[in-house]
Amino acid sequence: MNKRKPIVAGNWKMHNTTVETHNLIKQIITKGKNLGENCEVIIAPPFTSIACAIEAVGGNYIQVAAQDLFWEDKGAFTGQISGPMIKEIGCSHVIIGHSERRQYFGETDESVNKKIDAAIRNNLIPIFCLGETLAEREADRTFEVMKRQLTMGLGSLVIPNALNFIVAYEPVWAIGTGKTASPEQAQEAHAFLRKELAVFRGEDFANKTRILYGGSVKPDNAKDLMECADIDGGLIGGASLKAEDFIGIIEQGTGI
Ligand code: 13P
Repeated sequence: MNKRKPIVAGNWKMHNTTVETHNLIKQIITKGKNLGENCEVIIAPPFTSIACAIEAVGGNYIQVAAQDLFWEDKGAFTGQISGPMIKEIGCSHVIIGHSERRQYFGETDESVNKKIDAAIRNNLIPIFCLGETLAEREADRTFEVMKRQLTMGLGSLVIPNALNFIVAYEPVWAIGTGKTASPEQAQEAHAFLRKELAVFRGEDFANKTRILYGGSVKPDNAKDLMECADIDGGLIGGASLKAEDFIGIIEQGTGI
């Protein structure tokens, strides 16, 4: 039986100034009172809005994540943000390997591996994203691609606690397109990832790891997706930018 605590995380991408961040968080807190009881709720604002988000959350149930980090802790790396900086400002999590970073900013399995290492070294919980493109799915390469991303991303890293490690399966063709993976497609991918984790990290680690689904999750499809045995929550893009939709996903998905 699935006893893993669900997680719903909002990846705000490049949206929300500090004022917008403050307003959206206040709306979520006011309208969604008991959301944190059965579910871990995370939001990932852009770097410039993180301090404001942490202040607006004010010790409430919402945890704050960064959307990326650099693998070195400090140095001459213009434009980069390090793990100690993200930790110090008050983030608990960091998204790593999002397909938009792979697609537009040259992120590779090797850089993802170094970034997961940096997250763990700095006591940040990585939300490790992977997933196939449409061309890869159509060429019947979905599982081969996922296996490569998972094994190369993790490499030989020691992950002390599976509860402090999150995987997000995000098929690239479902991100921002309105085309959601069917619950069957998503469950098949999640079950595969959990099986592979068991091979590399052992059954116990695999059974404890939360695997989130991301790609056009909305309040009206959250329940069917999150009811699947190996889907432990969602990583939400567009719908996390509206308080009612984000709350609706948490309520529908976790049955609050
Ligand atoms: P959408 O929910 O907008 O499809 O985005 C998903 C995503 O990329 C979350 O990281």
